[in-house]
Amino acid sequence: MTRDTGLADTVVLDLLGLHGSLGSPVIESMNFLNEVSSRFPDAVSFAAGRPYEGFFDIEEVHRYLRVYRDHLMERLGDEVLVRRTMLQYGRTKGVIHDLVARNLLLDEGIDVDPESIVVTVGCQEALYLTVRALRRDGRDALLSVFPCYVGVAGAAALADMPLLPVAGSPEGIDLDDLVAVVHRARADGMRPRALYVVADFANPSGVSLGRATRERLLALAGELDLLILEDNPYGLFHGEEERAPTLKALDPGGRVVYLGSFAKTGIPGARVGYVVADQRAGNGLLADQLAKIKSMLTVNTSPIAQAVIGGKLLANGCSLRAANARETRVYQGNLRHMLDGLRERFPSESRVSWNTPEGGFFVVLDVPFPADDELLEHSAREHRVLWTPMHHFYGDGLPRPQIRLSFSHLTPGEITIGLDRLARFVARRCEAP
Ligand SMILES: Cc1ncc(COP(=O)(O)O)c(C=O)c1O
Repeated sequence: MTRDTGLADTVVLDLLGLHGSLGSPVIESMNFLNEVSSRFPDAVSFAAGRPYEGFFDIEEVHRYLRVYRDHLMERLGDEVLVRRTMLQYGRTKGVIHDLVARNLLLDEGIDVDPESIVVTVGCQEALYLTVRALRRDGRDALLSVFPCYVGVAGAAALADMPLLPVAGSPEGIDLDDLVAVVHRARADGMRPRALYVVADFANPSGVSLGRATRERLLALAGELDLLILEDNPYGLFHGEEERAPTLKALDPGGRVVYLGSFAKTGIPGARVGYVVADQRAGNGLLADQLAKIKSMLTVNTSPIAQAVIGGKLLANGCSLRAANARETRVYQGNLRHMLDGLRERFPSESRVSWNTPEGGFFVVLDVPFPADDELLEHSAREHRVLWTPMHHFYGDGLPRPQIRLSFSHLTPGEITIGLDRLARFVARRCEAP
């Protein structure tokens, strides 16, 4: 069908005739969250969970490319092969898998065969590949601790996989609820395939699982015959205290598919992530099956982008822990500044409370009014402060009396100004009839 616009006939497609995910609030969220800050450039944004841009350095990108080129030259001994590796179409599972494996061993104590790694276009592609592979038919379902990262809800929606919520808790996950959700789903004829969880400084909650909870979760996953999809973009950004090992490091039996991202510890614009899928599938590894899907989705991850991240790994002896010491200090400082600032501005009688994560990028604030996108726009326009309504992490568009505050890409001075504005906005909102 066509419509006369005065300029040319334009084809009009009925949204109901397109993929079901396109009409769902889930799929709107990523763009909304990415774009809302640019619509209000003079507002302080607690909305986007982005790395601090003061760390960005284009000269470093050139240096990393040279480091990686020299590394290849040493290994391959032939300029033609070096150019081919860096500039030609390449291996579907990636070319820096050996460096990623070394990084996992050094930083996380995760010991995996490089062949079990697929280097992806960000963690987002890793999520999609994994979810897509796990969905055989309409009975397959994914579970996630709720509220959850919008990226996993989106990946599940694109793969036509229902996402079943498991209740969060101060310990990170309500394990009784996990059992109940799995039993209920099976009684309804569904096949729960995997549980998605961010065990360290979750997005949006900031909550981490303690070691005992991790061990109980792994044992339960065995009893319930569930895979665990562990996503860990924030784990390195913790304080002085000892961090619990990742689920993958604690996993003796291959229950955990590990999803990684270099967006926070490397360079977000490189768009490089990975999945460790060392489970056996058919004659090979699950990673080989994921690579088949990748070959039809993005063919391979840009080798130039991989070279940048590979160079950063090589320049730091493959450990990103030391390479991110300055970043960790800044994010930890911002977290403390945020928590101190909240305490100063919201006394106990204010009916505002918040959680106190020990790392990561996020704090969640409980407020005495429902917070939706309209209220966010009002806050941005009238008070010049942005935050994220928590409904984006439930995927149902229902306003809740909670907002997520991200402090990662701001300076302490900007956090102070933003909190002053937030306090005025909340006070006004509480006065409103
Ligand atoms: C939980 C979670 N996973 C993954 C990512 C990063 O994904 P990508 O590597 O695609 O940028 C983010 C970034 O916001 C995140 O919060």
